[in-house]
Amino acid sequence: MINDKQVLYSGMQATGNLTIGNYLGALKNWLTLNEEYECFFGVMDLHSLTVRQNPAEFRKKAKNLFILYIAAGLDPKKNCIYFQSHVSAHAELAWLLNCFTYVGELNRMTQFKDKAAKHKDNINAGLFTYPVLMAADILLYQADFVPVGKDQKQHLEITRDIAERVNAVYGDVFTVPEPFFGKAGTKIMSLQEPTQKMSKSDENPNGSIYLMDDPDTIVRKFKRAVTDSFSEIRYSEEQPGVSNLLEIYSACSGTPIADAEKEFEGRGYGEFKEAVAEAVISVLKPMQDEYARLSGEKAYIDGLIRENDEKAAYYANKTLRKVRKKMGLNEIPR
Ligand code: TYM
Repeated sequence: MINDKQVLYSGMQATGNLTIGNYLGALKNWLTLNEEYECFFGVMDLHSLTVRQNPAEFRKKAKNLFILYIAAGLDPKKNCIYFQSHVSAHAELAWLLNCFTYVGELNRMTQFKDKAAKHKDNINAGLFTYPVLMAADILLYQADFVPVGKDQKQHLEITRDIAERVNAVYGDVFTVPEPFFGKAGTKIMSLQEPTQKMSKSDENPNGSIYLMDDPDTIVRKFKRAVTDSFSEIRYSEEQPGVSNLLEIYSACSGTPIADAEKEFEGRGYGEFKEAVAEAVISVLKPMQDEYARLSGEKAYIDGLIRENDEKAAYYANKTLRKVRKKMGLNEIPR
């Protein structure tokens, strides 16, 4: 608890172009929860280094992500929005937790297996221990809830296992966090291959709606979206393409899926796709405008970064001191 509120923690990697999947699966829920909880949102730049980055571009991308969080509507005075790499406690706790994580557990991580298959020339140790750094992120702030998309479920499970393991050895060290999944949009699929997750690293740009896509591009991508031959607008396993579009429509417009099915009953795919595009544009446009405005406010943004880095470090170091002590590392009074 901080200021009598439960703690919420989440973040995104500063890699690639964010998609509507990142928005609907995570960011949108952060917006609805941030008043109720004491929130920390990280720009996960250390995680991004598990894949090779061009330094100049990477620096920009990480800063743009920081700005995007604010443009989406998170108040940087109320929420602690900060850079993971600016708080050294993350890397330090990750080491300590590495010593409480089994190789067998990490071997079972599906995201590791997927990424290792994709980056065969760079299966580095960071990629393997990625979930341990993620556990450190969450446990440092003694988070109660972690709002994420469904693809992060396994990482949350290992975080809980590590926390429980450390608590079993040393007593009450960490809060054991719960994942939080939204009602709709927890797994948005590619518009071109609706059985695959929409991903910022997808090679086919037509499969993803990027948060910075302009309205014409959004309309065009939805027009080309893969549907199927049933010509019926219904949410079902046999219709992954249409179901994905219904999911996106529901998450963007707030209409429950069953109501959306009724709304589009008897109407054609063309009309349906246009409505989905409009719903997405109405969510993205205000965010894009605010992002453009904030991008010009360099001094203001840098001030916020400094302020929030300090706040994050304060809470993170508090937990780190506790862990060091519990684990028996020497402390010399100074
Ligand atoms: P990342 O950057 O891959 O994704 C950020 C968030 O977006 C969600 N997401 C999706 N949700 C629905 N449909 C999709 N197609 C989709 N694609 C991505 C993800 O579930 C995530 O919530 N490991 C994390 C970053 C991280 C983190 C943490 C998160 C590092 N430390 C601590 C929470 C707490 C990740 O890779 O996110």
